[in-house]
Amino acid sequence: MRSKFPLFNTPIDLAHHFWKSLLLNPGDVVIDATCGNGKDSLALAALLQPLNGKLLCIDIQEKAIENTKALLQKEVPDFFCNVSFYHQSHETLPEVALLKLIVFNLGYLPAGDKSLTTKVDSTLQSIKNALEVLSLGGVLSITCYPGHLEGKKEEEALLEYLSKLDPFHYCFTSFFWDNRNASPSLFLVQKKSSI
Ligand SMILES: C[S@@+](CC[C@H](N)C(=O)[O-])C[C@H]1O[C@@H](n2cnc3c(N)ncnc32)[C@H](O)[C@@H]1O
Repeated sequence: MRSKFPLFNTPIDLAHHFWKSLLLNPGDVVIDATCGNGKDSLALAALLQPLNGKLLCIDIQEKAIENTKALLQKEVPDFFCNVSFYHQSHETLPEVALLKLIVFNLGYLPAGDKSLTTKVDSTLQSIKNALEVLSLGGVLSITCYPGHLEGKKEEEALLEYLSKLDPFHYCFTSFFWDNRNASPSLFLVQKKSSI
């Protein structure tokens, strides 16, 4: 049953809470690097619409791009012209100004082909690229799913890499649901504005 207190029932709840406090400025730009069925994209679109911001949606699966397009067209028709779609791997991220937030919701499409999951090597490469293209003060939001083998490898590799980032340039924090077994986790990295 869905919790009546959804602030941090899941990493997604908590991530959405942080996105809301980050996306405040007119023209903010966000990349959803794994748009899947579009649920995160929809939450981002709702936050960006009053700011006249822009949303860039990426997924390696054509089906995911189609699903996200259909959802956004239906739910936020007035914002749809502010959304761009990229059927490609997130290893190459579009370079755009005012890039405030990049979201990675790792793993595979719920009810989809589990072999089409994000993979540790390309994810790590993407995260390194993302740290480069992010604006000063911008944030990376990464949800990991250690309940499957590749997801466990991604979580471990990311934790290893992100925890060694230079603290003068980046803030890194991680959230684990310690009273649940193999629960998804949330990693947030902010690029400091004083670089
Ligand atoms: C957990 S799902 C994302 C869920 C989505 N955020 C939502 O709200 O519905 C992970 C997605 O990552 C995509 N993916 C896997 N490898 C990728 C890659 N290298 N580049 C971009 N997307 C990838 C999968 O196709 C899948 O749609």
